[in-house]
Amino acid sequence: MARYARVKGSIALITLTNPPVNALSAAVRRGIMESVSRALKDEQVKAVVFCGENEKFCGGADIKEFSGSMSGPPLVPLIHSIEAGEKPMVAAIEGVALGGGLELALGCHYRVANTKACLGLPEVTLGLLPAAGGTQRLPRLIGIPAALELITTGRHVSAQEALQLGIVDQVAQGSAVQAAMELALSVIGQPLNPRRLSLRAPVWAPDVDGVCDAALAQVKQRSRGAMAPVACVQAVRAAAMLPYSKGMERERQLMDTLFRSGQAQAMQYAFFAQRNAGKWSLPNGSQWNNTRARDVQRAGVIGLGTMGRGIAVSLVKAGISVVAIETDAKQLESGKKAVTAMLQRDAQRRGVSPPLHLLTFTLSFHQLRDVDLVIEAVFEDMNLKKRVFSDLCKVLRANSLICTNTSGLNVDELAAVTDRQPLVVGMHFFAPAHVMKLLEVVYGARSSPEAVATAMALGKRIEKVCVAVGNCSGFVGNRMLKLYLDQSVYMLEEGATPEQVDQALEEFGFAMGIFKVSDLSGLDVGWRVRKASGLIGPDVDPVKPSRWRLGRRYCPLPDMLCQQGRFGQKTGRGWYLYDSPGSKEAKSDPEIQTFLEDYRRKYGIIPRRITSQEVIERCAFALANEGFRILEDRIAASPEDIDVIYLFGYGWPRHRGGPMFYASQVGLSVVLEKLEHYHRIHPDVPSLEPSRLLRRLVAEGSPPIQQWKSHIKNLRSHL
Ligand code: NAI
Repeated sequence: MARYARVKGSIALITLTNPPVNALSAAVRRGIMESVSRALKDEQVKAVVFCGENEKFCGGADIKEFSGSMSGPPLVPLIHSIEAGEKPMVAAIEGVALGGGLELALGCHYRVANTKACLGLPEVTLGLLPAAGGTQRLPRLIGIPAALELITTGRHVSAQEALQLGIVDQVAQGSAVQAAMELALSVIGQPLNPRRLSLRAPVWAPDVDGVCDAALAQVKQRSRGAMAPVACVQAVRAAAMLPYSKGMERERQLMDTLFRSGQAQAMQYAFFAQRNAGKWSLPNGSQWNNTRARDVQRAGVIGLGTMGRGIAVSLVKAGISVVAIETDAKQLESGKKAVTAMLQRDAQRRGVSPPLHLLTFTLSFHQLRDVDLVIEAVFEDMNLKKRVFSDLCKVLRANSLICTNTSGLNVDELAAVTDRQPLVVGMHFFAPAHVMKLLEVVYGARSSPEAVATAMALGKRIEKVCVAVGNCSGFVGNRMLKLYLDQSVYMLEEGATPEQVDQALEEFGFAMGIFKVSDLSGLDVGWRVRKASGLIGPDVDPVKPSRWRLGRRYCPLPDMLCQQGRFGQKTGRGWYLYDSPGSKEAKSDPEIQTFLEDYRRKYGIIPRRITSQEVIERCAFALANEGFRILEDRIAASPEDIDVIYLFGYGWPRHRGGPMFYASQVGLSVVLEKLEHYHRIHPDVPSLEPSRLLRRLVAEGSPPIQQWKSHIKNLRSHL
């Protein structure tokens, strides 16, 4: 796992060999330890160069080892022994030096990178900190502010930036190994103490406290409730205040706390869930590795509203030519302007020219005759979409795919009006479509595996995190969201304020509470959907809306707000008040307090105090409960898929893993008990009734989430 060779007569070349990225597994650490000791003993050897096989230095720790007990030599003393070695040690960084890989390099006396290398300490993104001396050596090398920025964000830097920051001593145009060997030969005999970062004094400066406090405030704001970024700041602060050995103790204590917190497990779970999301499978056995995707060179986008614009931008940025269609010249012109401006801004930021030549704006469907695939993004109206779908069939090639960006309409019903049901799938983007990472690929009953594979591959090409889901109202994300929204508005009826609910959710880790999000998306959107589904209309009294519809509890508060023209940010008033239409800063609105009080009085509701705990339990467990139903219905293939959807599409905090992971972490029996409790109190809310799958999993002894899939398979036959 580490190859030893003597080269150029006096250099020991130690090559890490653990493809694909030479992760520091137990065997690699043992290999390094033995090789270093051999190099130090060999009198012919005057200097040591470390490199990685296949031009990749080292991608860091082996994450798979985190869950088991550690074996093999620990990394901290290993790096110390390299740094303490009495021969110059040089890291030759090619490809990647990440996490433990960079910490290993920081233990060396010199570092050389080639131009293509990237370096970083991404531990924070896994809920950890760089605990092999990274938080103590990096600040001693590049100073507190730069180290804080790199360690708290986990950002990767290029070789050139690493040189400017002082992380590496040299950037080589060609082979970093060659350059490292030359450097090693040139420094033989020079004193090593000045190169040993652990011997440097703490990097205290008069403004250190201010810098650390500002970093702390920033990370708390950026990742609410996440412990790792806070611990990173505390560890770097120790590097400024304490001698190295004390700083290392602090680093270890902080790491132990993170390991025990549960957040690191959640973030590592999220990491693997994200990696596996693209590995889709359909109930008929077709899956990602036995189905070929079609090549997509030309695409059509129908409708250049909020979503169509972002979709067109994403496609063009990936080099796909786009024919963009609108209904009239005015809409077309405004869409064109918006798309062009977005592409220009992006190109300017990246210092390239905007790929405007890939775009055709037109009112004519005939221009679509050569496209490989169309994404429809017209209003959320079944009849309109059906009309568009049948019009498309008249002009498209027989083998072109038709995709819909509907947020929840029945994909099968749409496919049924076409001459190509197997070639119809949903591609559900999230707003803004060129920014949000999530893409739900919705397969209908007759969608072909090839169509699913093509949509998934296209999603990946435009850099989305894609999850394949089955067809049902709202698919996975919006089907669950509805129940989460319901709980939030019920709590307003019962005594909470939008501020209280949002604050509880934000403290839990959501970037924004549900009422702020609703104001941002526009309250009128849901209002229109409810009207279309007959929940509001001539048969329902608009002046005195009842609290009971279609056989269950109904909260008319959002409808009543819309009746007052309070659509959210766009009208300057929603659940909150805004300085002007379109402004973003939400302020409490005393009118809403009065409105809620009047409402409760009218319906004889005695308000009660609702705790943050109740807010979280009712929102999070309602989400998970519906997630279990979605698994029962085979709409999602795994709990991981549901969690990825919530992490990337709905702002669920990553350090909580996702609603399904959260339920498993809290304990399925606790979730069951709480749902039973809330359902007893609210028998008119059927969605709070614990799902059959949850009950069965608890009866089976609450298996860990990684085992649910096999339990679900077994349980399905009994359900
Ligand atoms: P929008 O109202 O902003 O834009 C719709 C556009 O379609 C308008 O510009 C309209 O002129 C155009 N259009 C209507 N009929 C057309 C036709 N026959 N041919 C060509 N263009 C036509 O709507 P938005 O928000 O972009 O939504 C579009 C679709 O995306 C809907 O199905 C919606 O449910 C879905 N969606 C919306 C999200 C959002 O947050 N806005 C998120 C995810 C999906």
